Amino acid sequence: MVQTVPAATQNRQINQQQISTLKNISVKNNCADSAGILRYPHPVLRSKDLQKRPRQITLMDKKWVLYRDADGKVAALPDVCPHRGAQLSKGKVNGAGELVCAYHAWRIRSDGNVTCPSVPKRSCRLQLLKTWERYGFIWIANAGVPDSSFPDFIDPDYELMGGFSSLFKAPLPVVLDNFGEIEHAFQVHTFIGPSRQVLDTVKFSVDIEEEKTFGYMSCRYRGLPLALHRFFGIRKNDLYHNDWVFKFNPLHGSYKNYWTAADGTRQRPVSFIVTSFLVPVNEQEVNVIVFVQIAIRNKWLKILSPVLKWSTMLITKFEIEADGDIAEFAPAEAQDGSRWRLTHLDRQIMANRKKMNELYFAREREAVAQTVNSDI
Ligand code: FES
Ligand SMILES: [Fe+2]
Repeated sequence: MVQTVPAATQNRQINQQQISTLKNISVKNNCADSAGILRYPHPVLRSKDLQKRPRQITLMDKKWVLYRDADGKVAALPDVCPHRGAQLSKGKVNGAGELVCAYHAWRIRSDGNVTCPSVPKRSCRLQLLKTWERYGFIWIANAGVPDSSFPDFIDPDYELMGGFSSLFKAPLPVVLDNFGEIEHAFQVHTFIGPSRQVLDTVKFSVDIEEEKTFGYMSCRYRGLPLALHRFFGIRKNDLYHNDWVFKFNPLHGSYKNYWTAADGTRQRPVSFIVTSFLVPVNEQEVNVIVFVQIAIRNKWLKILSPVLKWSTMLITKFEIEADGDIAEFAPAEAQDGSRWRLTHLDRQIMANRKKMNELYFAREREAVAQTVNSDI
């Protein structure tokens, strides 16, 4: 719905609302709240980082403990002992695969049964989270979340090279904004996006659907230092394309990077997809979990595939770190009574904020209607 509220007022409303959203949500979410963000699976820890010792992770300010039972299966529950609340992550896993509290040695099994060794009749049962191990990461969701809810981001025509995580020290709306616009690419990034000289020729469009948003960008490619782009089959004056989709179940965007000849035909043989999951840690930090898929469609370049894969992962890590560095300096709201002067290049970010509130945080539609900005 298009609002008639002046743009300056709208922007203030948007920004104040974003802050209160995070505050409200962070105190409301808990293990039993099936309406919380864990109604969607979230990647939270690399599989190889969970060995014999339990590990604590934080999601929306809430602490969870992960551990492996005797079969190596991951169990996840609030990091609070049912006896007197000690942090279970300070305990150990015994030979039977039970998590033993460090305080009075209550034992938690991965099926949720809890044994009190001193007073067995006080034993109880806990509801544990559902867990998956996929693509090198541990994912968690509320108990009962079906496998069909697992995010479908793997393209069968691409090869998954791996994943990594990067901690952004910025509020979630700021990080979300960063993954919803491309204007920063020439300034913040080194390997992707246009050169500074052709900025005003960048083509950009947006599609907004009910449950996802799309961005499409193409520009004259800036090239890699030392013309290394030739190893990717990219030629001088080629067009760089970045087509992406952002979804909210959970928050993640998939960005397809590819190149064509200057007239938009003849796609070059190497392309890759970067999928970034935004996992809110607390009001000031977001863990960005990134998966990279690559396609190499040239038999000669396939010979170089180990080098191409290694360099693509390296480039992606470098660029994601650059995003994290700049996000630290961007506020989630306009400062000192000023207002943001948004352009069409920001169109997706306002839609993303609105959908994050409605679809991810399940907030009332009326409460966020003002995030529609009639300027753009
Ligand atoms: S607080 Fe954990 S066993 Fe007592
Ligand atoms: Fe970026």
